[in-house]
Amino acid sequence: MTVKTLLDTQTPPDRGFLIQMIPSRRDRAYAELLAAELDHLARGAGLEVVGSRLYSARRVVPGTYLGKGIVEELAREIETCGAEVVVFNNPLSAVQQRNLEVQLHAKVVDRTGLILEIFAARARTREGCLQVELASLLYQQSRLVRSWTHLERQRGGFGMRGGPGETQIEVDRRLLRDRVHVLKKQLEQVERTRTLQRQSRREVPLFTVALVGYTNAGKSTLFNRLSGAVAGINTPQNRTIMAVEAADRLFATLDPTLRQVMLPGGGRIILGDTVGFIRDLPHQLVAAFRATLEEVLEADLLLHIVDLSDPEWQDQEEAVLGVLRELLRERGGMADKPLLTLFNKADQVATPGLLERLRARPAAHVLSALTGEGMTELLATLEQEANRNNPCYRLALPMTEGALLARLCREGLILEREEQDEQIRLTVILPVAVAGRLRGEIEPFFVPSVAP
Ligand code: GTP
Repeated sequence: MTVKTLLDTQTPPDRGFLIQMIPSRRDRAYAELLAAELDHLARGAGLEVVGSRLYSARRVVPGTYLGKGIVEELAREIETCGAEVVVFNNPLSAVQQRNLEVQLHAKVVDRTGLILEIFAARARTREGCLQVELASLLYQQSRLVRSWTHLERQRGGFGMRGGPGETQIEVDRRLLRDRVHVLKKQLEQVERTRTLQRQSRREVPLFTVALVGYTNAGKSTLFNRLSGAVAGINTPQNRTIMAVEAADRLFATLDPTLRQVMLPGGGRIILGDTVGFIRDLPHQLVAAFRATLEEVLEADLLLHIVDLSDPEWQDQEEAVLGVLRELLRERGGMADKPLLTLFNKADQVATPGLLERLRARPAAHVLSALTGEGMTELLATLEQEANRNNPCYRLALPMTEGALLARLCREGLILEREEQDEQIRLTVILPVAVAGRLRGEIEPFFVPSVAP
């Protein structure tokens, strides 16, 4: 079956054509904003956008959503630009979707289908993957236009391009129902074991930071800029940091959206990118979206990226904060999770005085992930936070302190170790709780010049 998925990098991307309706009671400028966002989402879902159209939503035609004349005109346009997938930025009924596919000679995906593709590619935790698959099954159950086989994939896209036999394959309702039942059971189990998993993850003594924000806010751009700093640094000192490098490889293998960031003072943190918030999220996808955000619970610090170039940035900021607060309250009761607001795309701001006002806000930075403005200040703050949370100690232990050394190795992360003059010289990062417990024991062995 030739299903193109998001994780498939072997075949060229499908060519997509985008349809945006101008919502009633909103103007064209607003529709253009939505269209730009749809374009970003479509590219994020692996489509090559070859054309787009804006239509006024005066009257919805039950069978085809758009009127006959428009559908015919659209079919000609789609043929000319060779689009294989047509994305509607609004919900379509199963009948509308099927009729449009026949008349446009292309695969038709609605907003929910597109967002599911993105969630599927970005879900990381087991709960995230299960929730996305469940949302996808429930979505398909309501339309039954897809084949069964693609459901066997654990994660990845759900197929924008139908396979050769798709129209002949009768989707087995019972199999779908059974799978939904199994998924719900698995989700219950995941919820029960979540606490255990969190405890074991906390054992990684590196400060972890999660990027959150609206889609298109610039999370990935910032993620790449911050983590790109690591690649350029390859000093002998860094090469000796075997444990951290191993941790880095581990994260890179397990999850491409987790990376290490090298801080100016030599410390390291783990940075995680998350799936973007999406305005008017279809209600069936809310649980899946929230589950894909689960990893923010593990982070020591949240970086909330706000896109100042979006006219609705204030509403977006509030919306993100609302969801985060609720998620943190429900899932862990960690209402005091530290959060730093990053006002991004400062290079796009023309409003006089706005940047100055935002710079004066506590726990906030104004920056441009694109130009690099504000990056030095951000890195300095991250360093401060990391040191406050997971302090790094330089110690000189006498050879007789074997038991203490063993505990430090077990509970901390040894960055450097050398034997010198009957002493073992160590640089070690300790999780804050461990540092509190061991402080009295390690204090006599601080190397004064760099001890915190
Ligand atoms: P999702 O993955 O959909 O959540 O989006 P994202 O938040 O990761 O946004 P991404 O980094 O993909 O950036 C979206 C667009 O904004 C890209 O075209 C970037 O080049 C652009 N962008 C990011 N940061 C800046 C900035 O500081 N200034 C300007 N002018 N553009 C930026």
